[in-house]
Amino acid sequence: MNAPWKPGGNGPRDAFAAFICDDVSLDMLRPVVIELGWQPEKCNKGGLRNAVQSLSISASPNILMVDLSESGDPLNDINALAEVCEPGTVVIAIGQVNDVRLYRDLLASGIQDYLLKPLNANQLRDALTHAQGIFSAPKHSDASAAKKHLSTAIVGTRGGVGASTLATSLAWLFSTDHKLPTALLDLDVHFGTGALALDLEPGRGLTDAIENPSRIDGLFIERAMIRANDNLSILSAEASINSPLMTDGAAFVQLEEEFRQAFEMTVIDLPRNMLINFPQLLADVNVVVLATDMTLASARDTIRILSWLKANAVHAQTIVVTNKVQQQVLEISRKDFEASIERKIDYVIPYDVKAAANAAKLGQTFADANRATKAAAVVRDIANKITDATNVEASDPEPRASAAAKKSLLGKLDIKGMLAKKDKVPAGAS
Ligand SMILES: Nc1ncnc2c1ncn2[C@@H]1O[C@H](COP(=O)(O)OP(=O)(O)O)[C@@H](O)[C@H]1O
Ligand SMILES: [Mg+2]
Repeated sequence: MNAPWKPGGNGPRDAFAAFICDDVSLDMLRPVVIELGWQPEKCNKGGLRNAVQSLSISASPNILMVDLSESGDPLNDINALAEVCEPGTVVIAIGQVNDVRLYRDLLASGIQDYLLKPLNANQLRDALTHAQGIFSAPKHSDASAAKKHLSTAIVGTRGGVGASTLATSLAWLFSTDHKLPTALLDLDVHFGTGALALDLEPGRGLTDAIENPSRIDGLFIERAMIRANDNLSILSAEASINSPLMTDGAAFVQLEEEFRQAFEMTVIDLPRNMLINFPQLLADVNVVVLATDMTLASARDTIRILSWLKANAVHAQTIVVTNKVQQQVLEISRKDFEASIERKIDYVIPYDVKAAANAAKLGQTFADANRATKAAAVVRDIANKITDATNVEASDPEPRASAAAKKSLLGKLDIKGMLAKKDKVPAGAS
């Protein structure tokens, strides 16, 4: 789940806890729990809300079973659970709604499994044994060594809105101004500009990774990634346009996983078609920057993508950035745009053709080549907003001391609060 890992701050964690709404299910569960060597008194009567309450004041168990039956809005409540439940905890949900969509959404929000009532002993035994296996797999058992890591995906509502410009700029700023080890993964596999923007050759790394996902490990990424500066490594491709992309997306997920071990920041330039083909890529993304221009087409697709994200990546914070904004020639006003997408635009980057040309000429990212411009200042604001979350986390001195300390990393982005402060126009907006 999402809440920040608190090294050494937790005291011992229980092996197992359950919050179950009805006695019949509890009676089915207790003997299986005893069989697995766990304490039956950890099977509590209650549902998801009780689980959230309990975990907000105590250490998370290794394996948690929660009953969604009494939850009116399971996905939303799971989010509340993610806020208080530490990473590493394997969560199994149970419920009485037989709905594939809910099942998928639950998995996307970090739930390990969903069991349908009425429960039976075999099903419970299988699910719990499997959860035990997942919990003790190496990446979880050595969780104290887990690095803090923040993954940001940049998605454009349509081609040319500047998603790649933002992706390369943010990655550059994270790695230089913020000195954070950063990976830039350019998933525009045929036409990517991640390397080009930095005047680098993409090499064969990403193509090799797609062809042989099983080869992807720490050593592979060390060799295959192109270094842009001491803190920034890039994986990008100019794959042949004579052949379609042959991948089930496993390579990309594996790369994300390796980046989590090797870097503190991952920036993914994620073309919108990749989002549709490989929704699993969003499973561990913390922030989605949705880049858009102020056009009717983009307003429509902003609505569609925001709603997609709500259904498929509830755990991720979304930042809406309009780019290339020319006040004189707006197809749709800011007010109308915001009304139609039913939320505020978080950042507005002005159109600056000179800055774009300058970046291209210098072979530098937009934000780096044009430090004195208003457009670059807004990009820096976005980078600050995203990295603020990691800084707060890193300097948090008293891990489990307060409720505030238990908020998820992304709770700290507080985008809602940011927007609520006043109907404020963020820096750079006109
Ligand atoms: N704020 C801006 N003002 C002017 N040109 C911009 C701006 N942002 C990006 N561009 C230019 O727009 C073009 C498309 O940008 P790109 O980042 O490749 O878009 P996308 O990845 O969304 O297709 C590039 O030539 C880029 O330099
Ligand atoms: Mg692009």
